[in-house]
Amino acid sequence: MKKKMNLVNATKKSGIGKAHSKIILMGEHSVVYGHPAIALPLKNIEVTCEITPAKKPLQFNSESPLATAIFASLKYLEIENHPISYRIESRVPKRRGMGSSAAVSIAAIRAVFDYFEEDLDKDTLEMLANQAEIIAHTNPSGLDAKTCLSDTAIKFIRNVGFSEFKLDLAAFLVIADTGIHGHTREAVEKVEQQEEKALSLLHQLGHYTRQAEQAIFDKNRQTLGRLMSDSHKTLVQLGVSCPESDHLVAVSLAHGALGAKMSGGGLGGCIIALVATEEKANQIATKLREEGAVKTWIENLSL
Ligand code: MEV
Repeated sequence: MKKKMNLVNATKKSGIGKAHSKIILMGEHSVVYGHPAIALPLKNIEVTCEITPAKKPLQFNSESPLATAIFASLKYLEIENHPISYRIESRVPKRRGMGSSAAVSIAAIRAVFDYFEEDLDKDTLEMLANQAEIIAHTNPSGLDAKTCLSDTAIKFIRNVGFSEFKLDLAAFLVIADTGIHGHTREAVEKVEQQEEKALSLLHQLGHYTRQAEQAIFDKNRQTLGRLMSDSHKTLVQLGVSCPESDHLVAVSLAHGALGAKMSGGGLGGCIIALVATEEKANQIATKLREEGAVKTWIENLSL
């Protein structure tokens, strides 16, 4: 439902919106085909967008998710031609499977609504963010936007729904950036082109995700780690990993990770490794940087 806004409201000097990034623990790609996925918000890795007045309306670039998010917001408010400009400050690396496009869009939509002092409910925010995600990913499952909007871990099933849960596991997740741009759109297309051949691998990924949910529930980090490594092997068979990710996964396992896998769309991007202690997580993060990772982050899963 559209909302007619009163332009008299547009008096603020600037509008601010923030959003956090995300990481997929299990279920990338298979989530596009209706299998469950488990993803976590990365609440300390944030994007901020600031909207300020401008002399001329923004030029619409239909290939940019950010521009799409801003224009979709202006359109929703029925003020497409209102002159504003924007500035993005992001700690989320772009195209690394950490939800940069979804986080930037969400921050921008929040900033536009803040600038015009308009209320923004969660459903409208998600609907507008997914319009921008279609530009970024063509056929997004909606997982990225949903996780960037959630403060807790989620289990997500496309077109069915999601549930938020508290991930409380005595373990740490090391996230390592290969430094190579991920190619979500291409990876999703690559899977699609395999048609029936991919179905059993996607089914297998869905099966691992369901088992991982049980392992999380049982607080069984060993089993979760094994399922992550099994998923990685299946994602390799699906053709969506890359040699750099495979190398970082192997390094993590060789240095005592309980499990490791690529995360997100793939063909580059990040890997994640499940580790039992903070000390081990720091050691593995150091090793991963020595072995080519351009950046690493550590998430405590017991918070
Ligand atoms: C991208 O972050 C995750 C994928 O499963 C695509 C999607 O869910 O839309 C590869």
